Parts: sequence; C-alpha cells; structure tokens
Amino acid sequence: MEQKMPNHVAIIMDGNGRWAQKRGLKRTKGHQKGAEVLKKISEYVYDKKIKVLSVFAFSTENWKRDKEEVDYLMDLFLKAFKDNFDAVKKKGVKVVFSGLKDKLSDKVVKAMEKMSEETKNNNNGVFNICLNYGGQDEIVNASKKISEDVLNGNLSIDDINKDSFGKYLFNDLPPIDLLIRTSGEYRISNFMLWQMAYAELYFTDVLWPDFDEKQMDKAIEVFNNRDRRFGGVKKK
Ligand code: IPE
Ligand code: IPE
Ligand code: MG
Repeated sequence: MEQKMPNHVAIIMDGNGRWAQKRGLKRTKGHQKGAEVLKKISEYVYDKKIKVLSVFAFSTENWKRDKEEVDYLMDLFLKAFKDNFDAVKKKGVKVVFSGLKDKLSDKVVKAMEKMSEETKNNNNGVFNICLNYGGQDEIVNASKKISEDVLNGNLSIDDINKDSFGKYLFNDLPPIDLLIRTSGEYRISNFMLWQMAYAELYFTDVLWPDFDEKQMDKAIEVFNNRDRRFGGVKKK
C-alpha cells in the first residue's frame, strides 16, 4: 500500500550529549554530529514531499547549561546556517524561525533574519527552526499581541478563535501530524504545545546523532498504521 505522508513533521532532536559521552567525547562533539544528521534528514524529508518540518534546536530552558556548551551551540548554528544556506535555497524551501530573539546575540539574529528574508518567497516547503523557543512562551506572547490588538480596536473579542489565534503565534503553521522524539525520553519538553494538539507521537530510543533515513521511514510507517480519529468514531 502506498504510504501517506504526514504534512507537518516535528522533531525533538535529543540525545547528542549522551551519544558523545558514550564514546568518551565532549558533549559538543554530539552536537556537531547532530547538525550533520539534521542536514541529511531535512533533505530526505523534503524529497519525500513532506511540506513542513519543525525542529527543536534550542529551548528556553537550555540556557541553564554550561556557558561553554551554549557558546558552542550558538557558533554551531551560525556555521550550519552558512554551510547549508545554498542547499536550502536550491531546494526552494522557506526558512522560518520560532522563538524570542531577546537573549540571542546580534550575529545570530542577523543570520536568522538573512535566511528568512532570502527564502520568504520559496514555496516547496517550510523549515521551521525553533531556537530559544518555548511552547508556553509562544502562547503567552500571542496572547499579549492579541490583547494589544483588542485594546487598539484592531480586533474584537468575538473574533478570537482557534484560527485567528494561530496567526499570532511565532509562525502560522499547519497542525503537526507526526512528532518524533529521539533518545528514549517520553516527554514534550515545552515544544510546540499549540500545534501538537492532535499530533501522533513517536518515541524512539535511538540517539539523535544515530538517527538516519531508515529511522525516518520507520516513523512514517508507524504513523501510517495509526488510526487518527480526531475525537470521532472510525467508519467500518
Ligand atoms: C539535544 O541533545 C540537543 C539540545 C538540547 C541542544 P542533548 O544535548 O539534550 O543531549 P542529551 O539529552 O544530554 O543526551
Ligand atoms: C529538548 O531537549 C530541547 C531540544 C532538543 C533542543 P532537552 O534535552 O533540553 O530536554 P529535557 O531537559 O530532557 O526535557
Ligand atoms: Mg537532552
């Protein structure tokens, strides 16, 4: 039977640190390998005609880590944006970012703005990179913007609904169909709470740096065997 592709796949790329520690390496080596895996998997995803890919790159809680690790990650983002920009442009994918810019360095923010600006008219797919992102922050931030619009008379309370609310989020994305979390943790860790309302959840013990195309196929296969009822009753 032909496989149904999810429209929006989201990934919590977890386990980089453990992957490195298992090999007696510094945690940062795991992040380096993780970035290579993301490049490969993102290309694979768009080749499979999945339209939207969201990835958790750095959470609002990740600032708690040692400065050395945080600095390494920020430099890695800059390098990854630079190294992969041409490939992204060639694929015709639109890059968007979710998260608050406040704690990020000017250099990182500039690189993010350049990527979004130069890919904004692309329509082969959307690559949503969640950086300094928290799901609760996203909802609070949207609520503040809605309140401002109500106070300014640009929005009436009666017009606040699920659809209009979505437009105030960091990006107005379609609902997540398939959420993948690697590394054997069974939690959501404050990722895309709004968009995940009816997502199918797929957890695997594989650490993110070991994730590959075969693992992705397996997740899609499991997704295909799920019975998505959305609160209804399955027709016989
Ligand atoms: C995920 O891997 C990457 C980020 C959170 C940036 P981790 O760094 O959380 O790896 P583990 O969970 O410690 O193994
Ligand atoms: C979630 O992983 C964040 C990212 C993958 C960027 P964490 O490793 O930070 O999550 P917890 O601490 O295990 O919940
Ligand atoms: Mg982790």
